[in-house]
Formats: sequence, structure tokens, C-alpha cells
Amino acid sequence: MNTLPDTKAPHESDEDHLHFFADYEPPTDDFMADTLTGLSRNQKSLSPKYFYDQKGSALFDEICRAPEYYVTRTELALLDQILPEVAELTGPEAIVIEWGSGSSWKIRKLLDGLDNPAEYIAIDISRDHLKAAAAEIGRQYPDVKVGAICADFLAPIALPPEAIVSEGRRLGFLPGSTIGNFDPHVAAEILRKAAALLGAGGAMLIGVDLEKDEDTLLAAYDDAGGITASFNLNLLARMKDELGAQVDVDAFEHEAIYNREFHRVEMHLKAKVATGISIAGQEFIMAPGETIHTENSHKFTLAGFQEIAKTAGFEPEAVWRDPDGLFSLHYLTLP
Ligand SMILES: C[S@@+](CC[C@H](N)C(=O)[O-])C[C@H]1O[C@@H](n2cnc3c(N)ncnc32)[C@H](O)[C@@H]1O
Repeated sequence: MNTLPDTKAPHESDEDHLHFFADYEPPTDDFMADTLTGLSRNQKSLSPKYFYDQKGSALFDEICRAPEYYVTRTELALLDQILPEVAELTGPEAIVIEWGSGSSWKIRKLLDGLDNPAEYIAIDISRDHLKAAAAEIGRQYPDVKVGAICADFLAPIALPPEAIVSEGRRLGFLPGSTIGNFDPHVAAEILRKAAALLGAGGAMLIGVDLEKDEDTLLAAYDDAGGITASFNLNLLARMKDELGAQVDVDAFEHEAIYNREFHRVEMHLKAKVATGISIAGQEFIMAPGETIHTENSHKFTLAGFQEIAKTAGFEPEAVWRDPDGLFSLHYLTLP
């Protein structure tokens, strides 16, 4: 049984449990500039990376517990099943680097299953959440050196000099279908950057969501409890708090649709009535029914994802999926 632990609140002593903490958090100016650009487009849009402030990260943890959200429980069960093979492929004293580590739940499986892992480095954009989650791993795994990097993984990331403590293999970990949040060419670019960080001989274990029936997909991104709706609407609250935006959050509702052409679930914030968003002296008018596109979650075939990985320089070494064919884990290597 995979029970997800509670979301950790930040604590003053968090840094004491970290081997290092590198802070490359994107400045608020980026959020402002990206928001003004996104709201100026014909199809208004905002990057999903801005979902993840402390509240957004906690709401994402709640989504992971929702009965409709098959992703987390399926990936955790699959990880249990394949761990011996992953450990065999990876070898001893690995340095495990996780992209989009969130609450660092799934990494526990790897740290328990690998042969004497030397180090865990968590990378995430949600600064306080990252620090608290990585520090918890530091507390629970005193034999593993634990570091954290707050950064946007769409930009190149350099490891600080103190980061590398072992000659073991560098194993990248990118679970949770996070790679599906990006258009395929951007996903390939993220993998290329990951390959540069892992270096020759490195490997990557990636969780990739699979194509399936529309009803299952739409339920997962529009749960009956309204958690995904709160997660989506929190973006507007964040714009109010951090950018001083004037926006009537109640004038919007969450919408999830399946885009067959691009094989992706899209999340939108839909205006229920005529409304407007005012930010930094600019006014963005929204007609009833008009949307702000906030997230894509691409769904793949096994071969389709492997093609993307190959364009980033990886060789597919092994791939597993659960018995119901919902989700897959790919082990990729760098020559
Ligand atoms: C879909 S959640 C997955 C969380 C966790 N890995 C899991 O499997 O449940 C995506 C995670 O990636 C982080 N994230 C999203 N965009 C990011 C970016 N551009 N740079 C760094 N982290 C990002 C979010 O803060 C969040 O923790």
C-alpha cells in the first residue's frame, strides 16, 4: 500500500539537513513579464510553472490523493515492481538528481531500492516547498547527502562544486508525468539539458503518461472534489498577491478538455461572465466563455516517447508499464 505522507511546511532548521541549497529562483519580474505577454495573446495563456507557489504545491499533493488521479498511485506501484531491475541497471553509490521533485515522495522508493545511493539532489521551482521536502529526506536518510536547487529547469542548470560526492552513476529521475506538461520539442530540450548535467554514462528514469480513453483522462484533470479546479484558480490568486493584479476570481471557472489533434489534456481558466484583469496599468478584457490556457498534459505511446528521448541523445534501455496500460516508466541511458 502506498500511503502518501503529509505535505511538509517550511521550517527554520530545514537548511541544517541539507548538504547544500542553491537558490536560482526566477525573480517576480519574470512572472510579471510572462503574465503580461501571455494575456496579450489571441488565445490567452500562462505557463504552468507559475502554479507552484507554496499553496499550489500543497494543492498538487491533494490532487495526487484524489481517486480520479490514477497517475500517482499507478506510478508508485510500478516503481515497487521494477525497483530491483532499476537498481541492477544503475549500480552502486549513485547520485540521483530529480527534476520537478515536488514533495519528494517517489524518491523514497529509489533511495530504499538502489544499492547504497550516495546523494540525492532535488530540483524544483517552488522554493519553500522544495526546501522543506528535501530537508525531510535529509532527516530520514542520514547516510545520503541531500542537496536542493531552486531553479527553472527550462533554463540551463549548473551543479554547485560541492554537489558531486561520488564516482557512482548519475541517475536522473523525472516522475509524475511532468515531462508531458511541455510541447514535444520543449520536452526534448529539457531532456537535452538533463543529458548535459548527467554526462556520459548517465541514465534517466522518467514517468510518462500513456494515451487512454477520454473519460478517464478528463476525470483525472477535473476531479469531483474540485481540487484541480482550486489548483487552477490559485494561479489568479497568485497574480493578485504577487503582481497586484485586479481580478475577480469568482468570475472564472476551471475547464479541462481533451485535444485529440495534439494528444493532450488542456486546462483552461474560463470566464463565466464578461470580466477583465488589470495588471501594471494594462487592462485585459475577457468575453464570456473566453479562456486562459494554463496547462497541457501530453499523452504518449511508448515508441512516441522513445523517439523524443532519442532526439535528446538518450538510448532507450528498458521500459515498463502497469498491467492496465495506464502509465509507463522509461530507463534511458547516455552513451
Ligand atoms: C506535475 S508536478 C510532479 C511532482 C512530483 N515529481 C510527482 O511526481 O508527484 C510538477 C513538479 O515540477 C515542478 N516544476 C514545474 N515546472 C517547473 C520548472 N519549469 N522548473 C522547475 N520545476 C518545475 C513543480 O513545482 C512540481 O513540483
